[in-house]
Amino acid sequence: MDLTKFFVPWYDKIKPYTTDDIAMAWENPELHRMFVNENPVIPSEKVVEAVANAVRLGNRYPDNGVRVRKKIAQRHKVSPDNVYIGNGSSEIIELMCRLFLTPGDEILLPNPIFSLYELRALNVGANPVSIDVTSDMQYDTDAMLAAINSKTKLMVLCNPNNPTGGFIPDEDIKRLLEAGIPTLFDEAYLEYHPDHESKDHMIEEYPNMVVSHTFSKAYGMAGIRFGYALADEKIIQAFRKIQIPWTASLLSIAAAEAALDDMEELKKKVDYNNAQIKYIYDELSKIDGLKPYFSYGNYMIVDATDLGVNGQEVVDYLFDKKKIMIKAVKTLKDRPGIFRISVGKTEENKACIEGIKEFFAAK
Ligand SMILES: Cc1ncc(COP(=O)(O)O)c(C=O)c1O
Repeated sequence: MDLTKFFVPWYDKIKPYTTDDIAMAWENPELHRMFVNENPVIPSEKVVEAVANAVRLGNRYPDNGVRVRKKIAQRHKVSPDNVYIGNGSSEIIELMCRLFLTPGDEILLPNPIFSLYELRALNVGANPVSIDVTSDMQYDTDAMLAAINSKTKLMVLCNPNNPTGGFIPDEDIKRLLEAGIPTLFDEAYLEYHPDHESKDHMIEEYPNMVVSHTFSKAYGMAGIRFGYALADEKIIQAFRKIQIPWTASLLSIAAAEAALDDMEELKKKVDYNNAQIKYIYDELSKIDGLKPYFSYGNYMIVDATDLGVNGQEVVDYLFDKKKIMIKAVKTLKDRPGIFRISVGKTEENKACIEGIKEFFAAK
Protein backbone atom coordinates (compact mmCIF):
# COMPACT_ATOMS: atom_id res chain seq x y z
CA MET A 1 0.00 0.00 0.00
CA ASP A 2 1.38 3.37 -1.00
CA LEU A 3 0.64 5.64 1.92
CA THR A 4 2.33 8.60 0.28
CA LYS A 5 -0.80 9.19 -1.81
CA PHE A 6 -2.56 10.09 1.45
CA PHE A 7 0.09 12.69 2.29
CA VAL A 8 -1.01 16.33 2.05
CA PRO A 9 -0.96 17.43 -1.62
CA TRP A 10 1.80 20.01 -0.97
CA TYR A 11 4.02 17.39 0.69
CA ASP A 12 6.69 17.51 -2.04
CA LYS A 13 7.19 21.23 -1.50
CA ILE A 14 7.89 20.84 2.24
CA LYS A 15 11.53 21.26 3.23
CA PRO A 16 12.85 20.12 6.59
CA TYR A 17 15.08 22.25 8.80
CA THR A 18 18.31 20.30 8.59
CA THR A 19 19.92 19.56 11.92
CA ASP A 20 22.53 17.12 10.56
CA ASP A 21 25.30 19.66 11.11
CA ILE A 22 24.24 20.08 14.75
CA ALA A 23 24.28 16.29 15.15
CA MET A 24 27.77 16.20 13.63
CA ALA A 25 28.94 18.87 16.09
CA TRP A 26 27.60 16.89 19.07
CA GLU A 27 29.28 13.73 17.78
CA ASN A 28 32.60 15.50 17.24
CA PRO A 29 33.19 17.75 20.24
CA GLU A 30 36.52 18.88 18.81
CA LEU A 31 34.58 20.89 16.21
CA HIS A 32 34.04 24.59 16.97
CA ARG A 33 30.38 25.49 16.75
CA MET A 34 30.17 28.93 15.19
CA PHE A 35 27.30 28.22 12.81
CA VAL A 36 23.92 28.29 14.60
CA ASN A 37 24.04 31.46 16.69
CA GLU A 38 24.40 29.64 19.99
CA ASN A 39 25.72 31.33 23.09
CA PRO A 40 29.22 29.95 23.84
CA VAL A 41 28.78 30.57 27.59
CA ILE A 42 27.24 27.78 29.70
CA PRO A 43 24.17 28.34 31.93
CA SER A 44 24.79 29.76 35.42
CA GLU A 45 24.75 27.63 38.58
CA LYS A 46 21.48 29.36 39.52
CA VAL A 47 19.84 27.98 36.37
CA VAL A 48 21.33 24.54 36.98
CA GLU A 49 20.02 24.55 40.56
CA ALA A 50 16.54 25.68 39.52
CA VAL A 51 16.33 22.89 36.93
CA ALA A 52 17.61 20.33 39.45
CA ASN A 53 14.91 21.40 41.93
CA ALA A 54 12.22 21.27 39.26
CA VAL A 55 13.18 17.79 38.07
CA ARG A 56 12.32 16.46 41.53
CA LEU A 57 8.71 17.46 40.81
CA GLY A 58 8.91 15.98 37.33
CA ASN A 59 6.06 13.54 37.98
CA ARG A 60 3.63 16.49 37.68
CA TYR A 61 2.36 18.28 34.58
CA PRO A 62 3.44 21.92 34.42
CA ASP A 63 0.95 24.80 34.53
CA ASN A 64 1.08 27.36 31.76
CA GLY A 65 3.81 29.25 33.54
CA VAL A 66 1.66 31.49 35.76
CA ARG A 67 4.70 32.83 37.64
CA VAL A 68 7.06 33.16 34.73
CA ARG A 69 4.41 34.87 32.61
CA LYS A 70 3.92 37.39 35.42
CA LYS A 71 7.65 38.12 35.43
CA ILE A 72 7.77 38.48 31.65
CA ALA A 73 4.68 40.70 31.74
CA GLN A 74 6.28 42.97 34.35
CA ARG A 75 9.41 43.28 32.29
CA HIS A 76 7.46 44.31 29.18
CA LYS A 77 4.82 46.35 31.04
CA VAL A 78 1.94 44.27 29.66
CA SER A 79 -0.62 41.97 31.29
CA PRO A 80 0.17 38.25 31.81
CA ASP A 81 -2.83 37.72 29.50
CA ASN A 82 -0.68 39.20 26.72
CA VAL A 83 2.04 36.56 27.25
CA TYR A 84 2.27 33.08 25.69
CA ILE A 85 5.16 30.75 26.60
CA GLY A 86 6.43 27.86 24.51
CA ASN A 87 9.21 25.58 23.40
CA GLY A 88 11.53 28.27 22.11
CA SER A 89 10.41 31.02 19.77
CA SER A 90 10.27 28.39 17.01
CA GLU A 91 6.94 27.45 18.54
CA ILE A 92 5.67 30.99 18.06
CA ILE A 93 6.66 30.78 14.38
CA GLU A 94 4.79 27.49 14.11
CA LEU A 95 1.65 28.83 15.78
CA MET A 96 1.61 31.92 13.56
CA CYS A 97 1.78 29.71 10.45
CA ARG A 98 -0.94 27.38 11.70
CA LEU A 99 -3.20 30.21 12.83
CA PHE A 100 -2.97 32.45 9.77
CA LEU A 101 -1.95 30.39 6.72
CA THR A 102 -3.94 27.98 4.58
CA PRO A 103 -2.69 26.26 1.40
CA GLY A 104 -2.07 28.82 -1.35
CA ASP A 105 -1.73 31.80 1.02
CA GLU A 106 1.44 33.88 0.95
CA ILE A 107 3.93 34.66 3.68
CA LEU A 108 5.95 37.80 3.08
CA LEU A 109 9.59 37.57 4.11
CA PRO A 110 12.63 39.78 3.75
CA ASN A 111 15.64 37.96 2.29
CA PRO A 112 17.98 36.93 3.81
CA ILE A 113 16.30 36.00 7.08
CA PHE A 114 16.18 33.04 9.51
CA SER A 115 15.13 30.07 7.38
CA LEU A 116 12.55 28.53 9.69
CA TYR A 117 9.73 30.95 8.81
CA GLU A 118 9.76 29.81 5.19
CA LEU A 119 10.02 26.15 6.13
CA ARG A 120 7.11 26.19 8.58
CA ALA A 121 4.98 28.13 6.07
CA LEU A 122 5.72 25.49 3.41
CA ASN A 123 4.63 22.89 5.92
CA VAL A 124 1.07 24.27 5.89
CA GLY A 125 1.00 24.63 2.09
CA ALA A 126 1.64 28.37 1.97
CA ASN A 127 3.91 30.12 -0.56
CA PRO A 128 6.85 32.21 0.62
CA VAL A 129 7.36 35.55 -1.12
CA SER A 130 10.88 36.79 -0.44
CA ILE A 131 11.99 40.38 -0.92
CA ASP A 132 15.75 40.95 -1.15
CA VAL A 133 17.32 43.47 1.20
CA THR A 134 18.80 46.61 -0.37
CA SER A 135 22.51 46.81 -1.25
CA ASP A 136 23.25 48.12 2.25
CA MET A 137 21.53 45.10 3.83
CA GLN A 138 18.41 46.99 4.96
CA TYR A 139 14.85 45.79 4.48
CA ASP A 140 13.38 47.09 1.22
CA THR A 141 10.21 48.46 2.79
CA ASP A 142 8.75 49.85 -0.43
CA ALA A 143 9.23 46.56 -2.25
CA MET A 144 7.75 44.66 0.67
CA LEU A 145 4.67 46.86 0.77
CA ALA A 146 4.31 46.55 -3.01
CA ALA A 147 4.37 42.75 -2.73
CA ILE A 148 1.30 42.65 -0.47
CA ASN A 149 -1.83 41.33 -2.18
CA SER A 150 -5.06 39.57 -1.24
CA LYS A 151 -3.19 36.30 -0.63
CA THR A 152 -0.73 37.80 1.86
CA LYS A 153 -1.76 36.47 5.27
CA LEU A 154 1.45 36.70 7.26
CA MET A 155 4.58 38.87 7.35
CA VAL A 156 7.77 38.45 9.33
CA LEU A 157 10.07 41.19 10.56
CA CYS A 158 13.18 40.29 12.53
CA ASN A 159 14.75 43.04 14.63
CA PRO A 160 17.74 42.95 14.63
CA ASN A 161 17.64 40.82 11.52
CA ASN A 162 19.34 37.43 11.35
CA PRO A 163 21.70 37.26 9.49
CA THR A 164 22.22 40.87 8.35
CA GLY A 165 22.48 42.16 11.93
CA GLY A 166 20.86 45.60 11.64
CA PHE A 167 17.79 47.21 13.15
CA ILE A 168 14.78 48.29 11.09
CA PRO A 169 14.17 52.07 11.25
CA ASP A 170 11.09 52.90 13.39
CA GLU A 171 9.38 54.62 10.53
CA ASP A 172 9.61 51.48 8.36
CA ILE A 173 8.29 49.29 11.17
CA LYS A 174 5.22 51.53 11.39
CA ARG A 175 4.65 51.58 7.65
CA LEU A 176 4.88 47.79 7.47
CA LEU A 177 2.58 47.23 10.46
CA GLU A 178 0.05 49.65 9.08
CA ALA A 179 -0.48 47.32 6.13
CA GLY A 180 -2.64 45.43 8.64
CA ILE A 181 -1.25 41.98 7.81
CA PRO A 182 -0.69 39.61 10.78
CA THR A 183 2.98 40.22 11.55
CA LEU A 184 5.51 38.25 13.54
CA PHE A 185 7.98 40.74 14.99
CA ASP A 186 10.90 38.58 16.05
CA GLU A 187 13.14 40.09 18.75
CA ALA A 188 15.24 36.94 19.27
CA TYR A 189 18.47 38.92 19.60
CA LEU A 190 17.21 42.10 21.20
CA GLU A 191 18.53 41.26 24.68
CA TYR A 192 22.04 41.85 23.34
CA HIS A 193 21.15 45.55 23.17
CA PRO A 194 19.19 46.62 26.24
CA ASP A 195 19.76 50.21 25.12
CA HIS A 196 17.49 49.52 22.15
CA GLU A 197 13.81 49.48 23.11
CA SER A 198 11.59 46.47 22.55
CA LYS A 199 8.59 47.13 20.34
CA ASP A 200 6.47 45.38 23.00
CA HIS A 201 4.41 48.54 23.61
CA MET A 202 3.26 48.53 19.97
CA ILE A 203 1.03 45.47 20.44
CA GLU A 204 -1.59 47.79 21.91
CA GLU A 205 -1.73 49.99 18.83
CA TYR A 206 -1.22 47.12 16.37
CA PRO A 207 -3.36 44.07 17.23
CA ASN A 208 -1.93 42.43 14.08
CA MET A 209 1.52 42.32 15.71
CA VAL A 210 3.04 39.43 17.65
CA VAL A 211 6.39 40.14 19.32
CA SER A 212 8.52 37.06 20.01
CA HIS A 213 11.50 36.53 22.31
CA THR A 214 13.74 33.59 23.08
CA PHE A 215 16.02 32.38 25.86
CA SER A 216 18.21 30.62 23.27
CA LYS A 217 20.46 33.58 22.48
CA ALA A 218 21.59 36.18 25.05
CA TYR A 219 20.30 34.05 27.95
CA GLY A 220 22.28 31.12 26.55
CA MET A 221 19.64 28.39 26.92
CA ALA A 222 19.14 27.06 23.37
CA GLY A 223 19.10 23.43 24.47
CA ILE A 224 16.68 24.11 27.32
CA ARG A 225 13.99 25.45 24.94
CA PHE A 226 12.03 28.44 26.16
CA GLY A 227 10.53 31.35 24.26
CA TYR A 228 7.52 33.62 24.49
CA ALA A 229 5.16 35.84 22.54
CA LEU A 230 3.58 39.16 23.45
CA ALA A 231 0.36 40.01 21.66
CA ASP A 232 -3.23 41.12 21.93
CA GLU A 233 -5.18 38.84 24.28
CA LYS A 234 -7.25 37.49 21.37
CA ILE A 235 -4.14 36.14 19.65
CA ILE A 236 -2.77 34.67 22.90
CA GLN A 237 -6.10 32.88 23.43
CA ALA A 238 -6.01 31.60 19.85
CA PHE A 239 -2.47 30.25 20.42
CA ARG A 240 -3.69 28.48 23.56
CA LYS A 241 -6.58 26.99 21.61
CA ILE A 242 -4.40 25.48 18.86
CA GLN A 243 -1.28 24.67 20.87
CA ILE A 244 -0.04 21.25 21.95
CA PRO A 245 -0.33 21.40 25.75
CA TRP A 246 2.81 21.49 27.94
CA THR A 247 5.31 22.47 25.28
CA ALA A 248 7.11 24.55 27.92
CA SER A 249 8.26 21.88 30.36
CA LEU A 250 8.54 22.23 34.12
CA LEU A 251 12.32 22.30 33.65
CA SER A 252 12.41 24.99 30.99
CA ILE A 253 9.98 27.17 32.97
CA ALA A 254 12.19 26.82 36.07
CA ALA A 255 15.29 27.67 34.04
CA ALA A 256 13.63 30.74 32.51
CA GLU A 257 12.49 32.01 35.91
CA ALA A 258 15.99 31.64 37.34
CA ALA A 259 17.47 33.45 34.34
CA LEU A 260 14.96 36.29 34.64
CA ASP A 261 15.97 36.70 38.31
CA ASP A 262 19.65 37.03 37.41
CA MET A 263 20.18 40.14 35.32
CA GLU A 264 23.84 40.29 36.31
CA GLU A 265 24.46 37.01 34.51
CA LEU A 266 22.63 38.26 31.42
CA LYS A 267 24.72 41.42 31.43
CA LYS A 268 27.91 39.36 31.69
CA LYS A 269 26.93 37.29 28.67
CA VAL A 270 25.85 40.36 26.70
CA ASP A 271 29.05 42.29 27.49
CA TYR A 272 31.14 39.32 26.41
CA ASN A 273 29.24 38.97 23.14
CA ASN A 274 29.36 42.63 22.26
CA ALA A 275 33.11 42.88 22.93
CA GLN A 276 33.68 39.85 20.68
CA ILE A 277 31.48 41.28 17.93
CA LYS A 278 33.59 44.43 17.99
CA TYR A 279 36.78 42.35 17.86
CA ILE A 280 35.56 40.28 14.91
CA TYR A 281 34.32 43.37 13.06
CA ASP A 282 37.54 45.34 13.63
CA GLU A 283 39.78 42.45 12.57
CA LEU A 284 37.82 41.56 9.45
CA SER A 285 37.64 45.23 8.45
CA LYS A 286 41.43 45.10 8.05
CA ILE A 287 41.20 42.68 5.12
CA ASP A 288 41.21 44.60 1.84
CA GLY A 289 38.05 44.15 -0.20
CA LEU A 290 36.27 42.06 2.44
CA LYS A 291 33.08 43.56 3.84
CA PRO A 292 31.92 42.64 7.36
CA TYR A 293 28.53 44.08 8.35
CA PHE A 294 28.41 45.22 11.97
CA SER A 295 25.83 43.19 13.86
CA TYR A 296 23.63 43.78 16.89
CA GLY A 297 23.18 40.03 17.38
CA ASN A 298 25.63 37.23 18.24
CA TYR A 299 26.59 36.69 14.59
CA MET A 300 27.99 38.66 11.70
CA ILE A 301 27.75 38.38 7.95
CA VAL A 302 30.82 39.00 5.85
CA ASP A 303 30.70 39.57 2.10
CA ALA A 304 33.59 38.36 -0.04
CA THR A 305 31.74 38.71 -3.36
CA ASP A 306 33.88 41.63 -4.54
CA LEU A 307 36.98 39.48 -4.06
CA GLY A 308 35.52 36.86 -6.39
CA VAL A 309 35.13 34.39 -3.53
CA ASN A 310 32.12 32.17 -2.86
CA GLY A 311 31.05 32.04 0.81
CA GLN A 312 31.13 28.25 0.74
CA GLU A 313 34.88 28.31 -0.05
CA VAL A 314 35.55 30.14 3.21
CA VAL A 315 33.25 27.77 5.10
CA ASP A 316 35.09 24.73 3.68
CA TYR A 317 38.53 26.22 4.34
CA LEU A 318 37.77 26.94 8.02
CA PHE A 319 36.31 23.49 8.46
CA ASP A 320 39.28 21.72 6.86
CA LYS A 321 42.06 23.82 8.39
CA LYS A 322 40.67 24.87 11.78
CA LYS A 323 37.74 22.51 12.52
CA ILE A 324 35.58 25.62 12.70
CA MET A 325 31.98 25.44 11.55
CA ILE A 326 30.50 28.64 10.10
CA LYS A 327 27.75 29.06 7.53
CA ALA A 328 27.38 30.26 3.95
CA VAL A 329 24.45 32.59 3.24
CA LYS A 330 23.29 31.57 -0.21
CA THR A 331 19.95 33.26 -0.74
CA LEU A 332 21.10 36.60 -2.18
CA LYS A 333 21.71 35.61 -5.78
CA ASP A 334 23.98 38.56 -6.65
CA ARG A 335 26.07 38.26 -3.45
CA PRO A 336 27.35 34.63 -3.46
CA GLY A 337 30.33 35.62 -1.31
CA ILE A 338 28.41 36.01 1.94
CA PHE A 339 29.17 33.86 4.97
CA ARG A 340 28.02 34.16 8.59
CA ILE A 341 30.09 33.73 11.72
CA SER A 342 28.45 33.12 15.11
CA VAL A 343 30.37 34.43 18.12
CA GLY A 344 32.28 31.60 19.80
CA LYS A 345 34.64 31.36 22.75
CA THR A 346 37.56 33.83 22.79
CA GLU A 347 40.06 31.32 21.39
CA GLU A 348 37.58 30.19 18.75
CA ASN A 349 37.00 33.73 17.53
CA LYS A 350 40.74 34.28 17.38
CA ALA A 351 41.31 31.08 15.41
CA CYS A 352 38.45 31.95 13.09
CA ILE A 353 39.90 35.38 12.33
CA GLU A 354 43.34 33.82 11.79
CA GLY A 355 41.86 31.29 9.40
CA ILE A 356 40.01 33.93 7.42
CA LYS A 357 43.17 36.07 7.21
CA GLU A 358 45.15 33.06 5.98
CA PHE A 359 42.50 32.24 3.41
CA PHE A 360 42.46 35.73 1.93
CA ALA A 361 46.25 36.15 2.13
CA ALA A 362 46.56 33.12 -0.15
CA LYS A 363 44.10 34.56 -2.68
C1 LIG B 1 15.62 35.18 14.31
C2 LIG B 1 15.41 33.90 15.03
N1 LIG B 1 14.21 33.62 15.55
C3 LIG B 1 13.97 32.48 16.19
C4 LIG B 1 14.96 31.54 16.34
C5 LIG B 1 14.59 30.25 16.99
O1 LIG B 1 15.04 30.18 18.25
P1 LIG B 1 14.45 29.28 19.38
O2 LIG B 1 13.38 28.38 18.84
O3 LIG B 1 15.60 28.52 19.90
O4 LIG B 1 13.87 30.24 20.37
C6 LIG B 1 16.23 31.76 15.82
C7 LIG B 1 17.31 30.77 15.95
O5 LIG B 1 18.37 30.88 15.45
C8 LIG B 1 16.45 32.99 15.14
O6 LIG B 1 17.64 33.27 14.58
